[in-house]
Amino acid sequence: MDHFTRRDGELWCEDVALSRIAREVGTPTYVYSRATLTRHYRVFEEAWSPVEHLICFAVKACSSLGVLSVLARLGSGFDIVSVGELERVLRAGGQPQRIVFSGVGKRDDEIARALEVGVHCINVESVEELTIVHEVATRLGRIAPISLRINPDVDAGTHPYISTGLRTSKFGIAMADARRAYGVAASLAGLRIVGVDCHIGSQLQDLAPIAEAMRRLLALVDELATDGITVEHLDLGGGLGIRYDQEVPPSPAEYARHLLGELGDRPLRIVLEPGRVIAGNAGVLLMQVLLTKHNEGKRFVVVDAGMNDAIRPALYGAHHGIEPVAAVDSELSPADIVGPVCESGDFFARDRAFPHVTRGALLAMRSVGAYGFAMSSQYNSRPRAAEVLVDGDRYHVIRARESVDDLMKGETVAPEAV
Ligand code: LLP
Repeated sequence: MDHFTRRDGELWCEDVALSRIAREVGTPTYVYSRATLTRHYRVFEEAWSPVEHLICFAVKACSSLGVLSVLARLGSGFDIVSVGELERVLRAGGQPQRIVFSGVGKRDDEIARALEVGVHCINVESVEELTIVHEVATRLGRIAPISLRINPDVDAGTHPYISTGLRTSKFGIAMADARRAYGVAASLAGLRIVGVDCHIGSQLQDLAPIAEAMRRLLALVDELATDGITVEHLDLGGGLGIRYDQEVPPSPAEYARHLLGELGDRPLRIVLEPGRVIAGNAGVLLMQVLLTKHNEGKRFVVVDAGMNDAIRPALYGAHHGIEPVAAVDSELSPADIVGPVCESGDFFARDRAFPHVTRGALLAMRSVGAYGFAMSSQYNSRPRAAEVLVDGDRYHVIRARESVDDLMKGETVAPEAV
């Protein structure tokens, strides 16, 4: 459920008309609904209430301070993958002891900073990295709380680019090597084992693969106990899917109920790293039609946002709903909705049944709250979009639109040749 609704035919976010935001802030602009973020966080959190749990929002999905601060105020923890994300979380008011640090390659300075602020756990992805974390911790005179990311070798059944749980992927430690890796961890004085971790993929629509991964990790937890190694938490990663088009993903309640059934009476704290399910449907990209044109009988609607602003259609062939902000009373006919970037891959929709729209019309692309702005770039020297957070009948600009000066920040022209 989200808070983007039509009133007298016009699309609103909570109690603010999107046309007002376009008028006052311009386009392209990402618009987030605070009520939707809050609702999604609460529903997810409550689903796990039968057990001790820690919800760590995956910062990579949407790392803007305005959004992170809403979640921090709700008590969310955070899953980070870089020191940049760490500093964002701290600035947004997140608590270090509710942060887990994931990622297949972390720099020494990133590990050091995470230890210095006191994160809950570092998710280590290889035996090589265990030694590195131990060395950094020892140098700092600290003990690093660690978990090992195990690759359970299950097929998440999702897009290959966002499927991470297969044996052949770069992520994690193979199940066959897991016990040995825990043995290494237990032998290193700079480390304290706190958990077992996995993340099998994103936009999951089926609970069977994640349940299977959980069974495999629980078997490992039991084996580790016989080796004298006790873990305090089980981190199942993120991945719960959302509806972009016709998908019918499990609800957060179904997801939790199903997985809690696997847990039995083990006294494990459950850690989760949801990104998309919290932020995805809480954001839209507001854009304006620059012109419409026809080539060889094909209709193109050219908008002022491009693949640099929202790359999911170009990168994954992802479907996003797109609708005119003001109701349009016309027949639907096929159109390509495209951006101005000089690449054929710069499209938001192809052969989409779309009403007749003309220059100046406002459009909203739905479900871009996760992996939307966070994946945007300045390709084609296009300043990145503004971001707005709507809260009831008010809105806040949480990121000013970049200027042309911002585009060239830190750059210099070359001196004359010698
Ligand atoms: N934890 C780890 C270790 C992850 O790698 C990810 C996502 C998550 C949690 C959060 O997953 P979520 O709950 O959002 O599915 N750019 C792609 C998605 C990439 C996901 C990468 N890892 C997209 O736009 O679909």
